Amino acid sequence: MSPLLLLLPLLLATATATAKTTAVASVTAAAAAAPTRDDRGGGPPAPPSPVPPATPPWPEQFHAVVITNLSARGGGLQLIDLYYDWPRGRDLNIVRDQLSREPQWNVEWANGTAFLFDAASCATFQFAVGLLPPDWKARGAAYLGRDRVDGFDCHVWSNFVFARYYEDVATGRPVSWNFNGMQRHVLSFEAGAVLQDSSKWQAPAYCFTNTNGGSRANAAASSS
Ligand SMILES: *[C@@H]1O[C@H](CO)[C@@H](O)[C@H](O)[C@H]1NC(C)=O
Ligand SMILES: *[C@@H]1O[C@H](CO)[C@@H](O)[C@H](O)[C@H]1NC(C)=O
Repeated sequence: MSPLLLLLPLLLATATATAKTTAVASVTAAAAAAPTRDDRGGGPPAPPSPVPPATPPWPEQFHAVVITNLSARGGGLQLIDLYYDWPRGRDLNIVRDQLSREPQWNVEWANGTAFLFDAASCATFQFAVGLLPPDWKARGAAYLGRDRVDGFDCHVWSNFVFARYYEDVATGRPVSWNFNGMQRHVLSFEAGAVLQDSSKWQAPAYCFTNTNGGSRANAAASSS
C-alpha cells in the first residue's frame, strides 16, 4: 500500500493533475464518485430524506489530532497532527505511523501544490484545485442524516473528498470522517489554533531540486 494514498486528506484532488500524481488523484476521484461504497466503521447509513441542518463552516484555522487504525489494510495505527489554515491558504499534516522512527510531513497549498517529505526524501504533487474551503458543506455537500459514531450523535455529510463526514450534533466538532476508505477519528479539535512556526511549513530544499520527487512519486504510484 502506498503511503501517499493515506495522505492528501484535504486537497480537492481531481484527475487532471500531472502524470506523476495520477494514481493519487484518480483514487481520490474514485472515492468521491462512489461515496456510498465504503462505510467501514460508520455503521449503516442514516435514514433517507433527512432534513438538512444549518451548515456551519469550519473554523478558518484549527488544529486536530486524528487517529486511524490501518490494520485492516496491512498497517498499524496512525496519528496525524493536522493544522488547517485557510487565511494563509495551507494545511499541514504531520503523520506518525505506529513505531516509525520519524514522522512524514505533508504540506498542502491552496494553489494545489502539495509536498510530502521526511528527513531524506520529498515528493511534490500538483492538483487542479486547492484546499477544501471552510464552507464546503454549503457548497454542494450531501446531507445524509444522523448516525452514531465513536459514541457521538452526529450529522453525516458527504462530498467528493469525504465519503462520510461525521460532525457532533451537540458541539459541531468533527468526530470522524472516511477518506479513501480510511476511517479517521478525531481525538482533539482546537478551533482557532495556529501553527505559527513558519519553518514547520517550509518544504526542504530537496523538494525543489527535481531529482528525488519524481522517482519517489513514481515508486509509490506503481506500488499502489
Ligand atoms: C484495529 O482494527 C483491527 C481490525 O482491523 C482490530 O482487530 C484492532 O483491535 C483495532 N485496533 C485498535 C487499537 O482499535
Ligand atoms: C504554490 O505555493 C507554494 C507555496 O507558496 C509554492 O511553493 C508553489 O511553488 C506554488 N505552486 C505553483 C504551481 O505556483
